[in-house]
Amino acid sequence: MDSRPFKILVTGSRGMLGADVLKSAGGRAGIEMRGVDLAEFDLLDAKAAAAYIRSYGPDAIIHCAAFTNVDAAETRQEEAFKINAMAVRDLAVICAEGSIKLALISTDYVFDGEKRSPYAEYDQPSPINIYGMSKYYAERYVAQVCPRGFIVRTSWLFGANGNNFVKAILKKARSEGELFVVDDQFGSPTYTGDLAKFLIELVQTDKYGIYHATNEGYCSWNEFARVILKLSAMEGVKVNAVSSEAFKRPAVRPKNSRLLKTALHYSGFKGLRPWQEALADYLAEIGEA
Ligand SMILES: NC(=O)c1ccc[n+]([C@@H]2O[C@H](COP(=O)([O-])OP(=O)(O)OC[C@H]3O[C@@H](n4cnc5c(N)ncnc54)[C@H](OP(=O)(O)O)[C@@H]3O)[C@@H](O)[C@H]2O)c1
Repeated sequence: MDSRPFKILVTGSRGMLGADVLKSAGGRAGIEMRGVDLAEFDLLDAKAAAAYIRSYGPDAIIHCAAFTNVDAAETRQEEAFKINAMAVRDLAVICAEGSIKLALISTDYVFDGEKRSPYAEYDQPSPINIYGMSKYYAERYVAQVCPRGFIVRTSWLFGANGNNFVKAILKKARSEGELFVVDDQFGSPTYTGDLAKFLIELVQTDKYGIYHATNEGYCSWNEFARVILKLSAMEGVKVNAVSSEAFKRPAVRPKNSRLLKTALHYSGFKGLRPWQEALADYLAEIGEA
Protein backbone atom coordinates (compact mmCIF):
# COMPACT_ATOMS: atom_id res chain seq x y z
CA MET A 1 0.00 0.00 0.00
CA ASP A 2 1.23 3.52 -0.84
CA SER A 3 1.77 5.35 2.45
CA ARG A 4 3.14 8.50 0.79
CA PRO A 5 0.87 11.49 1.48
CA PHE A 6 -0.99 13.22 -1.36
CA LYS A 7 0.98 16.46 -1.74
CA ILE A 8 -0.84 19.66 -2.64
CA LEU A 9 0.82 22.99 -3.40
CA VAL A 10 -1.42 26.04 -2.94
CA THR A 11 -0.46 29.27 -4.70
CA GLY A 12 -1.73 32.60 -3.40
CA SER A 13 -1.74 31.13 0.10
CA ARG A 14 -1.77 34.54 1.77
CA GLY A 15 -4.83 35.56 -0.23
CA MET A 16 -8.46 35.12 0.74
CA LEU A 17 -9.15 31.71 -0.86
CA GLY A 18 -5.60 30.36 -0.62
CA ALA A 19 -5.49 30.93 3.15
CA ASP A 20 -8.70 28.93 3.62
CA VAL A 21 -7.50 26.11 1.36
CA LEU A 22 -4.40 25.83 3.53
CA LYS A 23 -6.49 25.95 6.70
CA SER A 24 -8.98 23.34 5.45
CA ALA A 25 -6.25 20.77 4.91
CA GLY A 26 -5.26 20.87 8.57
CA GLY A 27 -5.53 17.47 10.18
CA ARG A 28 -6.72 15.63 7.04
CA ALA A 29 -5.25 12.16 6.97
CA GLY A 30 -3.09 11.35 3.97
CA ILE A 31 -2.70 14.95 2.78
CA GLU A 32 0.35 17.13 2.95
CA MET A 33 -0.12 20.72 1.90
CA ARG A 34 2.21 23.63 1.38
CA GLY A 35 1.33 27.22 0.59
CA VAL A 36 3.33 29.65 -1.52
CA ASP A 37 2.83 33.30 -2.30
CA LEU A 38 4.89 36.15 -3.73
CA ALA A 39 7.47 35.75 -0.97
CA GLU A 40 8.33 32.20 -2.10
CA PHE A 41 8.26 32.87 -5.83
CA ASP A 42 6.84 35.41 -8.19
CA LEU A 43 4.66 33.59 -10.71
CA LEU A 44 6.17 35.79 -13.38
CA ASP A 45 9.54 34.15 -12.75
CA ALA A 46 8.72 30.90 -14.53
CA LYS A 47 12.15 29.39 -13.88
CA ALA A 48 11.97 29.98 -10.14
CA ALA A 49 8.42 28.64 -10.05
CA ALA A 50 9.42 25.52 -11.99
CA ALA A 51 12.43 24.90 -9.72
CA TYR A 52 10.30 25.30 -6.61
CA ILE A 53 7.59 22.96 -7.91
CA ARG A 54 10.11 20.31 -8.97
CA SER A 55 11.84 20.36 -5.61
CA TYR A 56 8.56 20.06 -3.66
CA GLY A 57 7.10 17.43 -6.04
CA PRO A 58 3.36 17.99 -5.53
CA ASP A 59 0.68 15.62 -6.83
CA ALA A 60 -1.61 18.61 -7.36
CA ILE A 61 -1.50 22.40 -7.47
CA ILE A 62 -4.48 24.50 -6.39
CA HIS A 63 -3.77 27.77 -8.15
CA CYS A 64 -5.39 30.60 -6.17
CA ALA A 65 -2.83 33.32 -6.94
CA ALA A 66 -3.99 35.92 -9.42
CA PHE A 67 -4.21 39.59 -10.29
CA THR A 68 -7.63 40.05 -8.68
CA ASN A 69 -8.22 43.80 -8.77
CA VAL A 70 -10.93 43.84 -11.43
CA ASP A 71 -10.99 47.63 -11.85
CA ALA A 72 -7.20 48.06 -11.85
CA ALA A 73 -6.92 45.41 -14.59
CA GLU A 74 -8.58 47.87 -16.99
CA THR A 75 -5.54 50.17 -16.86
CA ARG A 76 -2.90 47.50 -16.06
CA GLN A 77 -3.89 45.13 -18.84
CA GLU A 78 -0.46 43.75 -19.60
CA GLU A 79 0.30 42.99 -15.96
CA ALA A 80 -3.10 41.32 -15.48
CA PHE A 81 -2.66 39.24 -18.62
CA LYS A 82 0.86 38.16 -17.67
CA ILE A 83 -0.09 37.07 -14.14
CA ASN A 84 -3.54 35.64 -14.90
CA ALA A 85 -2.89 34.05 -18.28
CA MET A 86 0.77 33.72 -19.30
CA ALA A 87 1.92 32.52 -15.86
CA VAL A 88 -0.89 29.94 -15.92
CA ARG A 89 0.36 28.69 -19.28
CA ASP A 90 3.81 28.20 -17.73
CA LEU A 91 2.27 26.40 -14.75
CA ALA A 92 0.24 24.20 -17.10
CA VAL A 93 3.43 23.22 -18.96
CA ILE A 94 5.21 22.33 -15.71
CA CYS A 95 2.19 20.30 -14.62
CA ALA A 96 1.89 18.52 -17.96
CA GLU A 97 5.59 17.59 -17.92
CA GLY A 98 5.45 16.39 -14.32
CA SER A 99 2.05 14.63 -14.50
CA ILE A 100 0.84 17.04 -11.81
CA LYS A 101 -2.85 17.87 -11.46
CA LEU A 102 -3.65 21.57 -11.82
CA ALA A 103 -6.78 23.26 -10.46
CA LEU A 104 -7.21 26.76 -11.87
CA ILE A 105 -9.61 29.03 -9.99
CA SER A 106 -11.61 30.94 -12.57
CA THR A 107 -14.56 33.26 -12.45
CA ASP A 108 -18.14 34.04 -13.45
CA TYR A 109 -16.61 37.07 -15.20
CA VAL A 110 -15.67 34.90 -18.19
CA PHE A 111 -19.33 35.33 -19.21
CA ASP A 112 -20.91 38.53 -20.53
CA GLY A 113 -24.00 38.20 -18.32
CA GLU A 114 -26.47 38.65 -21.17
CA LYS A 115 -27.99 35.16 -20.89
CA ARG A 116 -31.41 35.19 -19.26
CA SER A 117 -30.90 31.96 -17.33
CA PRO A 118 -27.93 30.60 -15.32
CA TYR A 119 -24.75 29.70 -17.22
CA ALA A 120 -23.81 26.07 -17.79
CA GLU A 121 -20.22 24.85 -17.85
CA TYR A 122 -20.49 24.39 -21.63
CA ASP A 123 -21.80 27.90 -22.37
CA GLN A 124 -19.44 29.95 -24.49
CA PRO A 125 -17.45 32.52 -22.48
CA SER A 126 -17.47 36.06 -23.77
CA PRO A 127 -15.80 38.33 -21.22
CA ILE A 128 -16.65 42.02 -21.04
CA ASN A 129 -13.70 43.22 -18.97
CA ILE A 130 -9.92 42.74 -18.97
CA TYR A 131 -9.86 40.64 -15.81
CA GLY A 132 -12.48 38.27 -17.28
CA MET A 133 -10.56 38.08 -20.55
CA SER A 134 -7.30 37.25 -18.76
CA LYS A 135 -8.99 34.47 -16.80
CA TYR A 136 -10.60 33.11 -19.96
CA TYR A 137 -7.17 32.86 -21.58
CA ALA A 138 -5.95 31.05 -18.46
CA GLU A 139 -8.78 28.55 -18.86
CA ARG A 140 -7.83 27.96 -22.47
CA TYR A 141 -4.18 27.38 -21.61
CA VAL A 142 -5.09 24.83 -18.94
CA ALA A 143 -7.49 23.07 -21.30
CA GLN A 144 -4.99 23.05 -24.17
CA VAL A 145 -1.79 22.22 -22.31
CA CYS A 146 -2.57 20.27 -19.15
CA PRO A 147 -4.13 16.82 -19.44
CA ARG A 148 -4.82 16.71 -15.70
CA GLY A 149 -6.57 20.05 -15.45
CA PHE A 150 -9.52 21.27 -13.43
CA ILE A 151 -11.08 24.66 -14.18
CA VAL A 152 -13.23 25.83 -11.28
CA ARG A 153 -15.34 28.92 -11.88
CA THR A 154 -16.58 30.58 -8.76
CA SER A 155 -18.09 33.95 -7.81
CA TRP A 156 -18.53 36.68 -5.21
CA LEU A 157 -16.04 35.28 -2.67
CA PHE A 158 -15.97 36.20 0.98
CA GLY A 159 -13.48 34.85 3.52
CA ALA A 160 -11.70 35.82 6.69
CA ASN A 161 -8.37 36.59 5.08
CA GLY A 162 -9.17 39.39 2.71
CA ASN A 163 -11.12 42.48 1.87
CA ASN A 164 -14.47 41.60 0.42
CA PHE A 165 -18.02 42.84 -0.03
CA VAL A 166 -19.18 41.67 3.42
CA LYS A 167 -16.48 43.60 5.23
CA ALA A 168 -17.01 46.64 2.99
CA ILE A 169 -20.76 46.70 3.72
CA LEU A 170 -20.26 46.42 7.47
CA LYS A 171 -17.65 49.19 7.42
CA LYS A 172 -19.82 51.50 5.33
CA ALA A 173 -22.92 50.80 7.41
CA ARG A 174 -21.03 51.92 10.50
CA SER A 175 -19.39 54.97 8.96
CA GLU A 176 -22.22 56.24 6.73
CA GLY A 177 -25.40 54.75 8.16
CA GLU A 178 -27.05 54.54 4.72
CA LEU A 179 -26.01 52.47 1.73
CA PHE A 180 -26.48 52.52 -2.05
CA VAL A 181 -26.08 49.06 -3.55
CA VAL A 182 -26.74 47.82 -7.09
CA ASP A 183 -29.82 45.67 -7.55
CA ASP A 184 -29.40 44.62 -11.19
CA GLN A 185 -26.45 42.22 -10.94
CA PHE A 186 -27.24 38.66 -9.82
CA GLY A 187 -24.95 35.88 -8.63
CA SER A 188 -24.00 33.57 -5.78
CA PRO A 189 -22.04 34.76 -2.76
CA THR A 190 -19.50 32.06 -1.92
CA TYR A 191 -17.63 31.35 1.31
CA THR A 192 -13.97 30.53 0.71
CA GLY A 193 -14.05 28.00 3.57
CA ASP A 194 -16.71 25.96 1.73
CA LEU A 195 -15.05 26.29 -1.66
CA ALA A 196 -11.71 25.24 -0.15
CA LYS A 197 -13.14 21.93 1.05
CA PHE A 198 -14.52 21.18 -2.42
CA LEU A 199 -11.18 22.00 -4.06
CA ILE A 200 -9.26 19.65 -1.78
CA GLU A 201 -11.73 16.86 -2.52
CA LEU A 202 -11.71 17.59 -6.26
CA VAL A 203 -7.94 17.42 -6.79
CA GLN A 204 -7.82 13.97 -5.21
CA THR A 205 -9.98 12.64 -8.06
CA ASP A 206 -9.39 12.14 -11.78
CA LYS A 207 -12.60 13.95 -12.72
CA TYR A 208 -10.92 16.60 -14.85
CA GLY A 209 -12.67 19.41 -16.67
CA ILE A 210 -14.72 22.54 -16.09
CA TYR A 211 -16.72 23.04 -12.89
CA HIS A 212 -18.93 25.77 -11.50
CA ALA A 213 -18.63 25.86 -7.70
CA THR A 214 -20.48 28.40 -5.59
CA ASN A 215 -22.67 28.35 -2.52
CA GLU A 216 -26.25 27.43 -3.37
CA GLY A 217 -28.81 30.12 -4.27
CA TYR A 218 -28.76 33.44 -6.10
CA CYS A 219 -29.28 37.07 -5.08
CA SER A 220 -28.48 40.61 -6.14
CA TRP A 221 -25.70 42.60 -4.46
CA ASN A 222 -28.46 44.65 -2.88
CA GLU A 223 -30.13 41.60 -1.34
CA PHE A 224 -26.72 40.29 -0.24
CA ALA A 225 -26.10 43.60 1.58
CA ARG A 226 -29.49 43.43 3.31
CA VAL A 227 -28.88 39.89 4.56
CA ILE A 228 -25.39 40.84 5.81
CA LEU A 229 -26.90 43.68 7.84
CA LYS A 230 -29.77 41.54 9.12
CA LEU A 231 -27.44 38.78 10.34
CA SER A 232 -25.22 41.41 11.97
CA ALA A 233 -28.17 43.00 13.79
CA MET A 234 -27.90 46.20 11.74
CA GLU A 235 -31.12 45.91 9.74
CA GLY A 236 -31.95 49.49 10.73
CA VAL A 237 -29.40 50.73 8.19
CA LYS A 238 -31.16 51.83 5.01
CA VAL A 239 -30.07 50.02 1.82
CA ASN A 240 -31.05 51.96 -1.29
CA ALA A 241 -31.24 50.29 -4.68
CA VAL A 242 -29.15 51.73 -7.51
CA SER A 243 -28.59 50.55 -11.06
CA SER A 244 -25.19 49.59 -12.49
CA GLU A 245 -25.65 52.52 -14.87
CA ALA A 246 -25.83 54.95 -11.95
CA PHE A 247 -22.93 53.26 -10.14
CA LYS A 248 -20.23 53.37 -12.83
CA ARG A 249 -16.91 51.63 -12.18
CA PRO A 250 -13.82 51.31 -14.38
CA ALA A 251 -14.63 47.68 -15.28
CA VAL A 252 -18.07 46.66 -16.53
CA ARG A 253 -19.57 43.74 -14.58
CA PRO A 254 -21.87 41.05 -16.00
CA LYS A 255 -25.47 41.47 -14.87
CA ASN A 256 -26.13 37.75 -14.78
CA SER A 257 -23.42 35.83 -12.90
CA ARG A 258 -25.63 32.87 -12.01
CA LEU A 259 -23.84 29.56 -12.55
CA LEU A 260 -25.34 26.08 -12.92
CA LYS A 261 -23.43 23.39 -11.05
CA THR A 262 -24.18 20.50 -13.40
CA ALA A 263 -20.65 19.05 -13.58
CA LEU A 264 -20.22 19.15 -9.82
CA HIS A 265 -23.41 17.19 -9.16
CA TYR A 266 -22.96 14.83 -12.13
CA SER A 267 -19.49 13.94 -10.85
CA GLY A 268 -20.90 12.94 -7.47
CA PHE A 269 -19.69 15.86 -5.35
CA LYS A 270 -21.84 17.25 -2.59
CA GLY A 271 -22.94 20.77 -3.46
CA LEU A 272 -21.95 23.73 -1.32
CA ARG A 273 -24.60 24.78 1.22
CA PRO A 274 -26.92 27.79 0.75
CA TRP A 275 -25.08 31.11 0.81
CA GLN A 276 -27.15 32.46 3.74
CA GLU A 277 -26.00 29.59 5.99
CA ALA A 278 -22.39 30.07 4.94
CA LEU A 279 -22.66 33.81 5.52
CA ALA A 280 -23.99 33.30 9.06
CA ASP A 281 -21.00 31.08 9.90
CA TYR A 282 -18.60 33.53 8.30
CA LEU A 283 -19.98 36.47 10.29
CA ALA A 284 -19.54 34.43 13.47
CA GLU A 285 -15.98 33.59 12.38
CA ILE A 286 -15.08 37.26 12.03
CA GLY A 287 -16.93 38.23 15.22
CA GLU A 288 -19.78 40.11 13.51
CA ALA A 289 -22.77 37.93 14.39
N1 LIG B 1 -12.55 37.40 -4.98
C1 LIG B 1 -13.57 36.99 -5.73
O1 LIG B 1 -14.73 37.40 -5.54
C2 LIG B 1 -13.35 35.99 -6.85
C3 LIG B 1 -14.44 35.61 -7.66
C4 LIG B 1 -14.22 34.66 -8.66
C5 LIG B 1 -12.97 34.10 -8.86
N2 LIG B 1 -11.92 34.50 -8.06
C6 LIG B 1 -10.61 33.87 -8.27
O2 LIG B 1 -10.30 33.14 -7.08
C7 LIG B 1 -8.89 33.15 -6.86
C8 LIG B 1 -8.61 33.63 -5.43
O3 LIG B 1 -9.12 34.95 -5.28
P1 LIG B 1 -8.87 35.78 -3.94
O4 LIG B 1 -9.90 36.83 -3.90
O5 LIG B 1 -8.66 34.84 -2.81
O6 LIG B 1 -7.47 36.47 -4.31
P2 LIG B 1 -6.54 37.42 -3.41
O7 LIG B 1 -7.03 37.48 -2.01
O8 LIG B 1 -6.32 38.68 -4.17
O9 LIG B 1 -5.18 36.57 -3.39
C9 LIG B 1 -4.39 36.42 -4.52
C10 LIG B 1 -2.98 36.13 -4.06
O10 LIG B 1 -2.16 36.00 -5.22
C11 LIG B 1 -0.93 36.65 -4.94
N3 LIG B 1 -0.25 37.06 -6.17
C12 LIG B 1 -0.57 38.11 -6.97
N4 LIG B 1 0.35 38.21 -7.96
C13 LIG B 1 1.24 37.21 -7.77
C14 LIG B 1 2.42 36.82 -8.44
N5 LIG B 1 2.87 37.47 -9.53
N6 LIG B 1 3.12 35.75 -7.97
C15 LIG B 1 2.70 35.09 -6.87
N7 LIG B 1 1.60 35.41 -6.18
C16 LIG B 1 0.87 36.47 -6.62
C17 LIG B 1 -1.36 37.86 -4.12
O11 LIG B 1 -0.25 38.42 -3.46
P3 LIG B 1 -0.27 40.00 -3.12
O12 LIG B 1 -1.49 40.23 -2.27
O13 LIG B 1 1.01 40.20 -2.40
O14 LIG B 1 -0.37 40.69 -4.45
C18 LIG B 1 -2.38 37.24 -3.19
O15 LIG B 1 -1.80 36.69 -2.02
C19 LIG B 1 -8.30 34.03 -7.96
O16 LIG B 1 -7.86 33.20 -9.00
C20 LIG B 1 -9.48 34.86 -8.45
O17 LIG B 1 -9.31 35.23 -9.80
C21 LIG B 1 -12.09 35.43 -7.06
